Amino acid sequence: MAGAVPDRSRLARSCLPAPVLDLSAALKEAGGQAYLVGGAVRDSLLGRPVNDWDLATDLLPETVAALFPRTVQIGIRFGTVLVMRDGTPYEVTTFRLDGVYSDARRPDSIAFTGTLEEDLIRRDFTINALAYDPVENRLVDPTGGEADLALGLLRAVGRAEERFQEDGLRLLRAVRLAAQLGFELEADTYRALVLCAPNLERIAQERVRAEFDKLIEAPQAASALSVMLETGLLRRALPELAACYGVAQNPHHAFDVFHHTLAALDAAPPERRLVRLAALFHDLGKPETREERAETAAFYGHQFVGERLATSAMRRLRYPNEEVARVRHLVHHHMFHYRPEWTDSAIRRFLREVGTEHLEDLFALRAADTMGNGLRKRIAPELTEFRRRIELEIERQNALTVRDLCIDGYDLMEALGLVPGPIIGRALSALLEDVLDDPSRNEREWLLARARELRRAEANDGA
Ligand code: CTP
Repeated sequence: MAGAVPDRSRLARSCLPAPVLDLSAALKEAGGQAYLVGGAVRDSLLGRPVNDWDLATDLLPETVAALFPRTVQIGIRFGTVLVMRDGTPYEVTTFRLDGVYSDARRPDSIAFTGTLEEDLIRRDFTINALAYDPVENRLVDPTGGEADLALGLLRAVGRAEERFQEDGLRLLRAVRLAAQLGFELEADTYRALVLCAPNLERIAQERVRAEFDKLIEAPQAASALSVMLETGLLRRALPELAACYGVAQNPHHAFDVFHHTLAALDAAPPERRLVRLAALFHDLGKPETREERAETAAFYGHQFVGERLATSAMRRLRYPNEEVARVRHLVHHHMFHYRPEWTDSAIRRFLREVGTEHLEDLFALRAADTMGNGLRKRIAPELTEFRRRIELEIERQNALTVRDLCIDGYDLMEALGLVPGPIIGRALSALLEDVLDDPSRNEREWLLARARELRRAEANDGA
């Protein structure tokens, strides 16, 4: 895809946040240089929203820290001082020259260099090796980054292999940035991705996760994952997904499992990261469960195998427990089969299993799954009816969990003379089953009488 014409007017003073101009002016008054660097220059030229405004200077970190009242000095060893303005941190980093990288993660040593050019040419990609002086209105571009922005090319600075040897995370950054910007990977950069793919194994899983999250939210995420597969990055970052490649499906699908997954990811709402993750993981169980059946294939129970694989992949990538739980829940339930003959109590049981708080996500996942099969391009009409019936059931505010029952454990203990223990939970669950069958039973007298009856039956069984 071609790039956009980089628009320098977006770097005009009027387009920059006031703190950036203040900080630049203060660094200059102190006798230093001040440049906006990295993603801020790249994204401003492209007219994209800027995440972080990073500045670079020749002043030493201690000098920078002394200039501003509120600073955080956590990165000072690497030359970075965080200057706080209105609660927002602005990174000011002293021009650096990185030493040898023996671990493909971070330099063994760094030196502060007096020159901006040296700082820029140690960076990863030409489009990130741009600097802009907002006071002098001057763009510094030693590696042709502006031209690559116009061409829509992601090109490593200098020898791509060296850049990827220095920091293996750049392998994923390349694919992610290309996906976010809709750029092509330049040929030598692509070749180096293949050669250096093993370096990804030396990267902390947290860093891989952070890149991966950005990647799957990108509009071109599916093509980025294809590039990851072709270059050998995917089998290192997410072997469970790489294993889906070439796994043929049945006549309901136009694609193999891998390409179906990518199409489902593409169809999932971009603003819902966990639904996108669930779309990516929903069929991970298919390779393991595939069985040939009379010229077709069956994948019985793949949602449960998928749930297990999604959980272990997300744990390995250090996703927070709450996110793992949500995605695994969606993968577990993604195969629900509604039939119009379902009774209202079946609807209530479905709601109890899934939880009303997960409904939107589960339906978004189903829609993405359907769109991703490559044949059917619209949601089955019975699903629209299912949604309507669910909404009706929610409006009725009938009990769906034991918390919705109009008695609680204390009522049971008092009425039946029970002591606290698992028996209380079991009794409440049994009562909920009755109420799911007939919501009019959710009434104190009925529930206590029923609890007594169940107790008696239990006692007789035990006798
Ligand atoms: N950089 C690099 N190698 C890395 C990470 C970063 O050379 N492994 C350089 C790039 O010049 C990059 C800058 O440091 O532009 C700032 O990095 P970061 O804030 O992580 O990324 P951005 O490029 O600003 O973009 P994004 O916020 O989209 O990650």
